[in-house]
Amino acid sequence: MPDSLKPEFRPVSYSRVTLTELMIPSYANFGGKIHGGILLSLMDKVAYAAASKHAGNYCVTVSVDGVNFLQPVEVGELVSLLASVNYVGRTSLLVGIKVIAEDVRTGTVKHTNTCYFTMVAKDDDGRPTTVPGLTLETPEDSRRFLESIKRREFRERHKAEFDNALSALAVHQDMHLLQQERCQIAY
Ligand SMILES: CC(C)(COP(=O)(O)OP(=O)(O)OC[C@H]1O[C@@H](n2cnc3c(N)ncnc32)[C@H](O)[C@@H]1OP(=O)(O)O)[C@@H](O)C(=O)NCCC(=O)NCCS
Repeated sequence: MPDSLKPEFRPVSYSRVTLTELMIPSYANFGGKIHGGILLSLMDKVAYAAASKHAGNYCVTVSVDGVNFLQPVEVGELVSLLASVNYVGRTSLLVGIKVIAEDVRTGTVKHTNTCYFTMVAKDDDGRPTTVPGLTLETPEDSRRFLESIKRREFRERHKAEFDNALSALAVHQDMHLLQQERCQIAY
């Protein structure tokens, strides 16, 4: 969408999306549980849907935070991914995704995971383009926006610390650390 036609702000509710899919046997791994990659692909789709709807442009995935598969998803369960735009920068958007899995026979619903996708809107020439601001319609929307600012600050600080730690790594001097690990040197 050309910048001239874009609204200055869009409400959170405008781009809220839910994607529901039945977990069929071909999605299972050799242990009979659903492949993590199937769920990742669904998360990417729903993040794209929410981000591009808000932006009015195609979006690309830049980074993913908080993907943990702590509870297995079973064949036959109905998985729903609830996505909303939690935060917008200039060209980037943070989409929060809550994943729930329902056993249709018992009606039991488990919350399997919440994760965050950073997406960037692109114009027709593939360049990052400005997205509308976000109208926060509820106190929950404000909490999520504020949390996203903290999340972003934390990630940037953490990345800087990690880069420093990596640049301080001296393989020859740190080899003794491997003695406590489950590895053996074979060269
Ligand atoms: C992400 C991408 C657009 C950044 O391009 P760039 O020329 O560095 O653009 P900018 O520096 O202007 O950054 C654009 C936005 O991305 C954000 N961004 C860039 N790198 C980021 C990162 N590692 N994590 C989170 N956000 C990031 C910037 O903060 C900026 O946000 P803002 O405009 O809201 O402030 C570019 O690297 C890209 O197109 N990557 C490929 C993405 C893709 O194709 N994904 C599909 C999977 S293969």
